[in-house]
Amino acid sequence: MEKLNYGKSLHRQIKERREDRQIRIRNDIHLYGDAVLDSDEMRAAFEQQHHKWSTVGEHTIRVALTSVLICYVLRKLHIKVSIPAVVIGSLCHDLGIIGRSEKYANNRECLIGHPKDSVEIARELVDELPEKTEAIIERHMWPIGPAKRPNSIEGAVVSVADKYASIKDIIL
Ligand SMILES: [Fe+2]
Ligand SMILES: [Fe+2]
Repeated sequence: MEKLNYGKSLHRQIKERREDRQIRIRNDIHLYGDAVLDSDEMRAAFEQQHHKWSTVGEHTIRVALTSVLICYVLRKLHIKVSIPAVVIGSLCHDLGIIGRSEKYANNRECLIGHPKDSVEIARELVDELPEKTEAIIERHMWPIGPAKRPNSIEGAVVSVADKYASIKDIIL
């Protein structure tokens, strides 16, 4: 790991590293997720409110940013993790929520139904969507409701990032 330079202000170095990391994360999200980012569904996601203080789109980007950051940490710990699967999984996980008032009779129906609907949308947006990525999306609500627990490290990453982002969407 690159050492800190004590001739330079510590505050400035930390700020520069954070900025570099944000650029790296955003580059990874674009590299693997452009087909999803540049879709009508994602545009619609920014029009739909989600949680208390967010749209589906804003929440989705927060989940993707946090998920990729967790991947970097896991890789530093020599834990193998697929960043493409995490990017696609996080970007698609809640797209099934779009049009919720027409699709679902109530919040419980939405809670139970949107992961499967998100998988359907992901299949349309991504060529040959891997099974692993489908499972990330389908199981992302865990541990809430009847969702099955993640069956991969990538699924665990997205589920945790989703809960973390949701808390930030609800509590200012
Ligand atoms: Fe969700
Ligand atoms: Fe979510």
